[in-house]
Amino acid sequence: MERLYIFDTTLRDGEQAPGCQLNTVEKIQVAQALESLGVDVIEAGFPISSPGDFNSVVEISKAVSEPVICALTRGIEADIDCAAEALRYARRKRIHTGIGTSDYHIRYKFNSTREAILERAVAATAYAKKFVEDVEFYCEDAGRTDNEYLARVVEAVIRAGATVINIPDTTGYCLPNEFADKIRYLFEHVDGIGKVCVSTHCHNDLGLATANTLAGVMAGARQVEVAVNGVGERAGNTALEEVVMAVKCHPETQLLTGIQPEHITRVSRMVSGLMDMPVQPNKAIVGRNAFAHSSGIHQDGVIKNSSTYEIIDPQTVGLDTNAMVLTARSGRAALKQRLRLLGYEVEKDRLDELYRQFLLVADKKKEVRDEDLRMLVGLDLSDNHWVQLQSLKVTSGKGLTPHAVLSLSIGQQSYQAEADGNGPVDAGINALKKIVLNRMIIQEFTIQSITRGSNDLGKVHMQVEIDGKAYYGYGANTDIVVASVEAYLDAINRFMVKNEVKTI
Ligand code: KIV
Ligand code: ZN
Repeated sequence: MERLYIFDTTLRDGEQAPGCQLNTVEKIQVAQALESLGVDVIEAGFPISSPGDFNSVVEISKAVSEPVICALTRGIEADIDCAAEALRYARRKRIHTGIGTSDYHIRYKFNSTREAILERAVAATAYAKKFVEDVEFYCEDAGRTDNEYLARVVEAVIRAGATVINIPDTTGYCLPNEFADKIRYLFEHVDGIGKVCVSTHCHNDLGLATANTLAGVMAGARQVEVAVNGVGERAGNTALEEVVMAVKCHPETQLLTGIQPEHITRVSRMVSGLMDMPVQPNKAIVGRNAFAHSSGIHQDGVIKNSSTYEIIDPQTVGLDTNAMVLTARSGRAALKQRLRLLGYEVEKDRLDELYRQFLLVADKKKEVRDEDLRMLVGLDLSDNHWVQLQSLKVTSGKGLTPHAVLSLSIGQQSYQAEADGNGPVDAGINALKKIVLNRMIIQEFTIQSITRGSNDLGKVHMQVEIDGKAYYGYGANTDIVVASVEAYLDAINRFMVKNEVKTI
């Protein structure tokens, strides 16, 4: 068996997806979960991109010891200096530097030439090598890079000291045979390729990320860059769980990963919850229907022998098939166990508080579902908000002008306001705008009903623009107007934290 290395980029490429931003505490939680999952490399961030990203790389380097901690840079000295500084506490460290190598990037992004880009690639690698032994070089948009030129760049950076060569299909353009041919071409034409590890980094724009990754592996790549649940820019990155389970289900590949698959479901749910990024129900391995059999013929077959319609035993990926129903009569132990399964470890005080909120929901609903619990854990976040909703009363109905009266606390101060609107949510937000920032523009507003009934918890995702920058907000409540106002306030609080301001 040969080792296939798992490079996880959930916290870098994955976190670049709109609305998926995590704070440092959340990133540490994910990094520790990835360590228990058994990933080989954690790409912890892009330190020069923001002080928050820099700090996350520093803190993850302290919190995690087994996997290599990797920091991304452009092929620029200042980026590399910054990454080296952010990695100073990492026990095992890697700098991931690179540059665009396709003619699209060379011409339109850099207004440069192939020769000049090749020189910059070599210089960046040699510079990174002054700080760390382990230097990974990415040829951005390698998927659309001419193979002969790609081979020249790869050979030159290997000579300059690169230890890992990343071949990203940045735009998710390649077909599997094309991507495999590219990797094979490099093995056949690059001097020194045998002494480095070749890596795939595929995006999912055509839904081919996993297929391309596996094609690259079959052609000789021995590291795969993946993200939990396939999160990432646009259509996402290759999903960790898909590649890991594909390799596991096919021992004839003679490949072995270090992943403990029984943690897959827990980590998937943790990432989905923290990023507020629902997993599509029919998503391979981690979707809620991935192991559900609904047609009579399938159910009959599975009851007779699960191998008839299941290629993976759900317990292999840590799925609890004996789902326990949580109701108002459930105790703290059942709640704690369910939360644990969803990826939330809670201490006694927090459990008591969550249990109190759980009973409030359970009183309103027959059955408290996983989605409701995730909302509860999310709801808790508003307790730390500097600007908090104290009360909201909205009158609306046929023939009435919707009218909202609300009170807010900003730090220790209380404020009241009232306003009309063209609907109850609009009235609530108009009242809010009389107290807080009036220069927010709502760009996206999504209301999601979590389960089925009218007694449901509703979840609101909002993207707002303040001074040209996008902020994400999220709220959940059985009252959809309250959830909307909470989402707006969440975005305001994120703006305040990011800009370190206490008044608005
Ligand atoms: O998709 C890509 O090309 C990347 C590189 C920065 C590695 O994410
Ligand atoms: Zn990428």
